Amino acid sequence: MQVLVFKNEAEVGKAAGMIVASEIIKKPDCILGLATGSTPIPTYQEMIRMNREGILDFSKVRSFNLDEYIGLAPDHVCSYRRFMNEQLFDHINIDKANTHVPCGIGADHEADAKAYDAAVEAAGGIDLQILGIGHDGHIGFNEPDDTFSRETHIVELTDVTRQANARFFDSPDEVPDKAVTMGIGTIMQAKRILMIATGADKADTVRAMLRGPVTPRLPASVLAFHRDVVVMLDAAAAGKLEA
Ligand code: F6R
Repeated sequence: MQVLVFKNEAEVGKAAGMIVASEIIKKPDCILGLATGSTPIPTYQEMIRMNREGILDFSKVRSFNLDEYIGLAPDHVCSYRRFMNEQLFDHINIDKANTHVPCGIGADHEADAKAYDAAVEAAGGIDLQILGIGHDGHIGFNEPDDTFSRETHIVELTDVTRQANARFFDSPDEVPDKAVTMGIGTIMQAKRILMIATGADKADTVRAMLRGPVTPRLPASVLAFHRDVVVMLDAAAAGKLEA
């Protein structure tokens, strides 16, 4: 695992944007795995900038997002589909038909989850997966558990996660208690993983992830078993690494 530390989150965004750019330049029809949340926003801004400046062409890129809340329609103001449109897709020349976010409102969540994994597989798998990390060590919405999950599935969100995400909703009670997420198995099959963590509030979790042991109680720790992971941190998130 390669760990790179930058001065602040803007610098992380620039560096992470370069990793994405190099992937797209190498393989213009690459498959990107995308995350929501606050962490990737500076990276998405870099991607938008490079697209506007004509450096980066997304016309052949396809994408699969990690997760979605159960019960939120794609146009709901807090849905992850809406987030992705507003933070990235509306501002770059990607074909929206090539962007995928798990469905949170289908009649059969199990069937939808299976179809999502099948679509990732049919696309040839994810070339570069962008990940953030939750305070409890979750990746996607894979919360601490007794075992690692393999495929896309429905999860109960922990109180820690619901509280952390309440900032996006009018009231904490509105945060859905379930989500659909790619499984750890699907994430680990990505050819390359870019994990981004910024802010002092992530420092303890980042330290635990990097120190191990690998345990489903800290889902992100499993990244130690992937052969091509870049971890990009700002100084605040890296603050406890020497301790
Ligand atoms: C969201 C996702 C989550 C977030 C994590 C950190 O698609 O996959 O694992 O990456 O909850 O969220 P932020 O970046 O808001 O701290």
